[in-house]
Amino acid sequence: MIVYLNGKYLPDDQALISVLDRGFIFGDGVYEVIPVYWGKAFRLDQHLARLNDSLRGIRMANPLSTVEWTQVIQKLLEFNTTTDSMSVYLQVTRGPARRDHAIPATTRPTTFVMVNPIPAPDAEVIKQGISAVTLDDIRWKLCNIKATTLLASVLLKDDAMKQGAYDAILVREGRITEGTASNVFVITGGTVRTPPKATDLLPGITRDVVIELAQRDGITCVERNITPVEMETADEIWLTSSTREILPVTKLNNKVVGFGAPGPMWRRITSLYQKFKKDLRDPS
Ligand code: PDD
Repeated sequence: MIVYLNGKYLPDDQALISVLDRGFIFGDGVYEVIPVYWGKAFRLDQHLARLNDSLRGIRMANPLSTVEWTQVIQKLLEFNTTTDSMSVYLQVTRGPARRDHAIPATTRPTTFVMVNPIPAPDAEVIKQGISAVTLDDIRWKLCNIKATTLLASVLLKDDAMKQGAYDAILVREGRITEGTASNVFVITGGTVRTPPKATDLLPGITRDVVIELAQRDGITCVERNITPVEMETADEIWLTSSTREILPVTKLNNKVVGFGAPGPMWRRITSLYQKFKKDLRDPS
């Protein structure tokens, strides 16, 4: 695999960073994951805008311009594209410095990009949906920043898997926030709901697309807080993300959600999502 590191394109095993990199030492960095369909980066402007927000959130300047990011991504796709659905992973850290919590006055940021195929969705998942458990959201208070510091998410995912679930839906102060790497939608009586954007969740790009598509199709879609009890009695629950798109949750805390199978609203929104992707590929 050819990756991009600090201005160079090189094989991944030759892309080396300093052991003093603040990304390595402190998790002092931010990242993005951008899906690419048929060679076109999906919602690239929105992902790059969120990258800017994340960098501002950690008090860093963006090392590349939008044009430069676009060129790097395009070039890596030329080197590495193997399938119709790829994902771009990009990461910016505060770079190498003597270990000290204080932000150094001058830094040389580390800028890294790689692209990988997005694995096809598991047929079983599409047929049966996934299971989730609710867990206490033990993460920090700035979850709107897409920080590389993901230890809490890693432990929460592990806790969920140890309980036999695919993922966790996180609960903070009596409200659901999001999944460990996804946003949450709860569907009750034909109304689609998702928690509003705030500092306790990532403003997901897929989340925005789902809201847009639902509203455009006449589905009532509201952004408001949801309690775990409200979620327990939902007809459907979805988890959304760039790499998994829209996943139906059919079991929550070992209890069946709705009819225990991916529901009609999920089928509707998934077909709208797939059509939206294809329309971008073949504009009329
Ligand atoms: N994660 N919430 C969290 C905590 C996430 O990590 C993600 C995505 C999302 C969904 O955002 P989007 O729709 O923009 O992908 C919500 C990526 C895919 C990851 O960490 O791999």
